[in-house]
Amino acid sequence: MEQNTRYHIRRMKDGDIPQVLEIDKDAFPTQWPHPTTNSFRLELRNKLAHYFVICRENEDGNTPGQPQPGRIKRIISFFQRFLDHDRFFGNAYINASGEYLVGIVGIWMMVDEAHITTIAVRSSYRRLGFGEWLLIVIIDLATSLHAHSVTLEVRVSNTVAQLLYEKYGFTIAGTRKKYYQDNHEDALIMTTDQLSSPVFQSRFQQLKEEHRTRWSHCYTLS
Ligand SMILES: CC(C)(COP(=O)(O)OP(=O)(O)OC[C@H]1O[C@@H](n2cnc3c(N)ncnc32)[C@H](O)[C@@H]1OP(=O)(O)O)[C@@H](O)C(=O)NCCC(=O)NCCS
Repeated sequence: MEQNTRYHIRRMKDGDIPQVLEIDKDAFPTQWPHPTTNSFRLELRNKLAHYFVICRENEDGNTPGQPQPGRIKRIISFFQRFLDHDRFFGNAYINASGEYLVGIVGIWMMVDEAHITTIAVRSSYRRLGFGEWLLIVIIDLATSLHAHSVTLEVRVSNTVAQLLYEKYGFTIAGTRKKYYQDNHEDALIMTTDQLSSPVFQSRFQQLKEEHRTRWSHCYTLS
Protein backbone atom coordinates (compact mmCIF):
# COMPACT_ATOMS: atom_id res chain seq x y z
CA MET A 1 0.00 0.00 0.00
CA GLU A 2 1.60 3.25 -1.13
CA GLN A 3 1.02 6.13 1.23
CA ASN A 4 0.14 8.60 -1.51
CA THR A 5 -2.31 6.33 -3.27
CA ARG A 6 -5.63 8.10 -3.34
CA TYR A 7 -9.02 6.45 -3.03
CA HIS A 8 -12.43 7.99 -3.35
CA ILE A 9 -15.99 6.80 -3.04
CA ARG A 10 -18.55 7.68 -5.66
CA ARG A 11 -21.83 6.38 -7.00
CA MET A 12 -21.61 3.26 -9.17
CA LYS A 13 -22.19 3.71 -12.90
CA ASP A 14 -22.74 1.37 -15.86
CA GLY A 15 -19.06 1.47 -16.87
CA ASP A 16 -18.13 -0.05 -13.50
CA ILE A 17 -20.17 -3.21 -13.97
CA PRO A 18 -17.37 -5.49 -15.34
CA GLN A 19 -15.25 -4.77 -12.26
CA VAL A 20 -18.28 -4.94 -9.95
CA LEU A 21 -19.10 -8.46 -11.19
CA GLU A 22 -15.48 -9.43 -10.66
CA ILE A 23 -15.56 -8.17 -7.04
CA ASP A 24 -18.87 -9.91 -6.46
CA LYS A 25 -17.52 -13.27 -7.70
CA ASP A 26 -14.38 -12.85 -5.61
CA ALA A 27 -16.38 -12.04 -2.47
CA PHE A 28 -19.27 -14.49 -2.86
CA PRO A 29 -17.81 -17.46 -4.77
CA THR A 30 -20.53 -19.93 -3.79
CA GLN A 31 -23.50 -17.62 -4.15
CA TRP A 32 -26.21 -18.64 -6.56
CA PRO A 33 -27.53 -17.16 -8.76
CA HIS A 34 -24.75 -14.62 -9.41
CA PRO A 35 -25.80 -11.12 -10.41
CA THR A 36 -25.38 -10.33 -14.09
CA THR A 37 -24.55 -7.21 -16.08
CA ASN A 38 -28.28 -6.77 -16.67
CA SER A 39 -29.26 -7.20 -13.04
CA PHE A 40 -26.74 -4.51 -12.02
CA ARG A 41 -27.93 -2.24 -14.87
CA LEU A 42 -31.47 -2.56 -13.54
CA GLU A 43 -30.30 -1.91 -9.99
CA LEU A 44 -28.60 1.30 -11.14
CA ARG A 45 -31.93 2.47 -12.56
CA ASN A 46 -33.93 1.42 -9.50
CA LYS A 47 -35.01 4.59 -7.71
CA LEU A 48 -34.97 2.83 -4.33
CA ALA A 49 -31.38 1.63 -4.75
CA HIS A 50 -28.12 3.44 -4.01
CA TYR A 51 -24.82 1.86 -5.05
CA PHE A 52 -21.28 3.11 -4.36
CA VAL A 53 -17.77 2.02 -5.29
CA ILE A 54 -14.35 2.73 -3.83
CA CYS A 55 -11.90 3.63 -6.60
CA ARG A 56 -8.13 3.57 -6.51
CA GLU A 57 -6.92 6.51 -8.52
CA ASN A 58 -3.70 7.11 -10.43
CA GLU A 59 -3.78 3.80 -12.28
CA ASP A 60 -2.30 5.47 -15.33
CA GLY A 61 -1.35 8.81 -13.85
CA ASN A 62 -4.85 10.28 -14.20
CA THR A 63 -7.10 11.40 -11.42
CA PRO A 64 -10.71 12.40 -11.84
CA GLY A 65 -10.84 16.10 -12.54
CA GLN A 66 -7.67 15.94 -14.60
CA PRO A 67 -7.91 15.75 -18.40
CA GLN A 68 -9.28 12.47 -19.70
CA PRO A 69 -6.86 10.02 -21.36
CA GLY A 70 -6.17 10.62 -25.02
CA ARG A 71 -8.15 8.96 -27.78
CA ILE A 72 -5.71 6.07 -28.30
CA LYS A 73 -5.70 5.21 -24.58
CA ARG A 74 -9.49 5.28 -24.54
CA ILE A 75 -9.65 2.92 -27.52
CA ILE A 76 -7.15 0.53 -25.86
CA SER A 77 -9.09 0.70 -22.64
CA PHE A 78 -12.34 -0.12 -24.50
CA PHE A 79 -10.86 -3.31 -25.97
CA GLN A 80 -9.17 -4.27 -22.69
CA ARG A 81 -12.62 -4.77 -21.19
CA PHE A 82 -13.08 -7.85 -23.35
CA LEU A 83 -9.88 -9.48 -22.19
CA ASP A 84 -9.32 -11.52 -19.11
CA HIS A 85 -7.21 -8.72 -17.71
CA ASP A 86 -6.20 -10.58 -14.56
CA ARG A 87 -4.75 -13.36 -16.62
CA PHE A 88 -2.95 -11.26 -19.20
CA PHE A 89 -1.87 -8.25 -17.21
CA GLY A 90 -2.10 -9.29 -13.55
CA ASN A 91 -4.72 -6.65 -13.01
CA ALA A 92 -8.44 -6.23 -13.57
CA TYR A 93 -10.47 -4.15 -15.95
CA ILE A 94 -9.52 -0.53 -15.63
CA ASN A 95 -12.17 1.95 -16.69
CA ALA A 96 -11.56 4.86 -19.04
CA SER A 97 -10.58 7.15 -16.15
CA GLY A 98 -7.92 4.70 -14.98
CA GLU A 99 -9.87 3.78 -11.86
CA TYR A 100 -9.47 0.39 -10.27
CA LEU A 101 -12.41 -0.55 -8.06
CA VAL A 102 -11.58 -2.14 -4.71
CA GLY A 103 -14.99 -2.31 -3.01
CA ILE A 104 -18.72 -2.01 -3.56
CA VAL A 105 -21.78 -1.40 -1.42
CA GLY A 106 -25.48 -1.03 -2.07
CA ILE A 107 -28.68 -0.29 -0.18
CA TRP A 108 -32.36 -0.31 -0.87
CA MET A 109 -34.40 2.36 0.86
CA MET A 110 -37.54 0.55 1.95
CA VAL A 111 -40.03 2.89 3.64
CA ASP A 112 -37.98 4.09 6.60
CA GLU A 113 -35.40 1.30 6.57
CA ALA A 114 -32.08 1.17 4.67
CA HIS A 115 -31.41 -2.44 3.67
CA ILE A 116 -27.85 -3.33 2.69
CA THR A 117 -28.04 -5.52 -0.43
CA THR A 118 -24.31 -6.04 -0.89
CA ILE A 119 -21.00 -5.02 0.64
CA ALA A 120 -17.69 -6.44 -0.54
CA VAL A 121 -13.98 -5.64 -0.77
CA ARG A 122 -11.54 -7.36 -3.13
CA SER A 123 -9.75 -10.09 -1.18
CA SER A 124 -6.34 -8.48 -1.82
CA TYR A 125 -7.56 -5.20 -0.26
CA ARG A 126 -9.11 -6.55 2.92
CA ARG A 127 -8.24 -5.52 6.48
CA LEU A 128 -7.33 -2.03 5.29
CA GLY A 129 -10.42 -0.23 6.48
CA PHE A 130 -12.26 -0.25 3.14
CA GLY A 131 -15.21 -2.35 4.36
CA GLU A 132 -15.59 0.05 7.26
CA TRP A 133 -15.45 3.04 4.93
CA LEU A 134 -18.25 1.58 2.77
CA LEU A 135 -20.38 1.04 5.87
CA ILE A 136 -19.74 4.59 7.07
CA VAL A 137 -20.89 6.02 3.73
CA ILE A 138 -24.07 3.95 3.84
CA ILE A 139 -24.91 4.91 7.43
CA ASP A 140 -24.31 8.59 6.56
CA LEU A 141 -26.57 8.32 3.51
CA ALA A 142 -29.29 6.46 5.41
CA THR A 143 -29.18 9.12 8.14
CA SER A 144 -29.46 11.93 5.61
CA LEU A 145 -32.44 10.16 3.98
CA HIS A 146 -34.10 9.99 7.42
CA ALA A 147 -34.05 6.19 7.58
CA HIS A 148 -34.96 4.86 10.99
CA SER A 149 -32.29 2.14 10.90
CA VAL A 150 -29.93 0.13 8.68
CA THR A 151 -30.50 -3.58 8.37
CA LEU A 152 -29.05 -6.59 6.49
CA GLU A 153 -28.85 -10.36 6.29
CA VAL A 154 -25.57 -12.15 6.93
CA ARG A 155 -24.65 -15.84 6.86
CA VAL A 156 -24.43 -17.35 10.34
CA SER A 157 -20.93 -18.59 9.36
CA ASN A 158 -19.71 -15.13 8.23
CA THR A 159 -18.20 -14.03 11.52
CA VAL A 160 -15.84 -11.54 9.84
CA ALA A 161 -18.73 -9.50 8.43
CA GLN A 162 -20.65 -9.84 11.71
CA LEU A 163 -17.68 -8.34 13.59
CA LEU A 164 -17.68 -5.37 11.22
CA TYR A 165 -21.40 -4.79 11.78
CA GLU A 166 -21.14 -5.26 15.56
CA LYS A 167 -18.39 -2.63 15.64
CA TYR A 168 -20.97 -0.21 14.19
CA GLY A 169 -23.69 -1.11 16.67
CA PHE A 170 -25.65 -3.69 14.69
CA THR A 171 -27.33 -6.34 16.80
CA ILE A 172 -29.08 -9.57 15.91
CA ALA A 173 -32.80 -9.02 15.38
CA GLY A 174 -33.74 -12.51 14.17
CA THR A 175 -32.90 -15.30 11.76
CA ARG A 176 -34.14 -16.40 8.36
CA LYS A 177 -34.05 -20.17 8.12
CA LYS A 178 -32.33 -21.67 5.04
CA TYR A 179 -32.10 -18.22 3.47
CA TYR A 180 -29.16 -18.94 1.15
CA GLN A 181 -29.93 -21.03 -1.93
CA ASP A 182 -26.45 -22.49 -2.43
CA ASN A 183 -26.14 -24.39 0.88
CA HIS A 184 -29.43 -23.57 2.64
CA GLU A 185 -27.54 -21.76 5.36
CA ASP A 186 -29.50 -19.60 7.81
CA ALA A 187 -29.19 -15.81 7.75
CA LEU A 188 -28.93 -13.57 10.77
CA ILE A 189 -30.88 -10.34 10.49
CA MET A 190 -28.74 -7.57 11.94
CA THR A 191 -29.94 -4.04 12.54
CA THR A 192 -28.83 -0.75 14.05
CA ASP A 193 -30.61 1.24 16.72
CA GLN A 194 -32.45 4.35 15.65
CA LEU A 195 -29.97 6.27 13.50
CA SER A 196 -31.04 9.67 14.77
CA SER A 197 -30.62 8.76 18.44
CA PRO A 198 -27.91 10.81 20.15
CA VAL A 199 -26.28 7.66 21.54
CA PHE A 200 -25.98 6.05 18.11
CA GLN A 201 -24.78 9.26 16.43
CA SER A 202 -22.20 10.02 19.08
CA ARG A 203 -20.65 6.52 18.82
CA PHE A 204 -20.86 6.64 15.01
CA GLN A 205 -19.10 10.02 14.76
CA GLN A 206 -16.38 8.73 17.08
CA LEU A 207 -15.85 5.59 14.95
CA LYS A 208 -15.76 7.72 11.79
CA GLU A 209 -13.10 9.95 13.25
CA GLU A 210 -11.04 6.98 14.44
CA HIS A 211 -11.28 5.40 10.99
CA ARG A 212 -10.06 8.55 9.25
CA THR A 213 -7.18 9.02 11.67
CA ARG A 214 -6.13 5.38 11.55
CA TRP A 215 -6.04 5.01 7.78
CA SER A 216 -4.86 8.46 6.73
CA HIS A 217 -1.32 7.24 7.49
CA CYS A 218 -1.64 4.52 4.87
CA TYR A 219 -3.63 6.14 2.10
CA THR A 220 -5.54 9.25 1.21
CA LEU A 221 -9.30 9.17 1.53
CA SER A 222 -10.99 11.78 -0.58
C1 LIG B 1 -16.75 -8.12 5.27
C2 LIG B 1 -15.75 -7.31 4.46
C3 LIG B 1 -16.53 -6.35 3.55
C4 LIG B 1 -14.86 -6.50 5.43
O1 LIG B 1 -14.04 -5.66 4.66
P1 LIG B 1 -12.56 -5.23 5.11
O2 LIG B 1 -12.18 -4.10 4.25
O3 LIG B 1 -11.65 -6.39 5.12
O4 LIG B 1 -12.84 -4.77 6.61
P2 LIG B 1 -12.08 -3.60 7.41
O5 LIG B 1 -10.62 -3.67 7.18
O6 LIG B 1 -12.76 -2.31 7.13
O7 LIG B 1 -12.39 -4.05 8.92
C5 LIG B 1 -13.34 -3.38 9.73
C6 LIG B 1 -13.73 -4.24 10.90
O8 LIG B 1 -14.31 -5.47 10.45
C7 LIG B 1 -13.91 -6.55 11.29
N1 LIG B 1 -13.03 -7.44 10.52
C8 LIG B 1 -12.75 -7.34 9.19
N2 LIG B 1 -11.98 -8.38 8.79
C9 LIG B 1 -11.78 -9.15 9.89
C10 LIG B 1 -11.08 -10.37 10.12
N3 LIG B 1 -10.43 -11.01 9.13
N4 LIG B 1 -11.08 -10.89 11.37
C11 LIG B 1 -11.73 -10.28 12.37
N5 LIG B 1 -12.42 -9.11 12.23
C12 LIG B 1 -12.45 -8.56 10.99
C13 LIG B 1 -13.16 -5.90 12.44
O9 LIG B 1 -14.12 -5.53 13.42
C14 LIG B 1 -12.58 -4.65 11.77
O10 LIG B 1 -12.29 -3.65 12.70
P3 LIG B 1 -10.81 -3.56 13.36
O11 LIG B 1 -9.87 -3.33 12.20
O12 LIG B 1 -10.90 -2.40 14.28
O13 LIG B 1 -10.57 -4.91 14.03
C15 LIG B 1 -14.81 -8.23 3.63
O14 LIG B 1 -14.26 -9.21 4.48
C16 LIG B 1 -15.49 -8.93 2.46
O15 LIG B 1 -15.61 -8.37 1.37
N6 LIG B 1 -15.95 -10.18 2.69
C17 LIG B 1 -16.58 -10.97 1.62
C18 LIG B 1 -17.96 -10.43 1.31
C19 LIG B 1 -18.87 -10.48 2.53
O16 LIG B 1 -18.85 -11.42 3.29
N7 LIG B 1 -19.71 -9.42 2.66
C20 LIG B 1 -20.66 -9.34 3.72
C21 LIG B 1 -21.94 -9.93 3.30
S1 LIG B 1 -23.19 -9.81 4.58
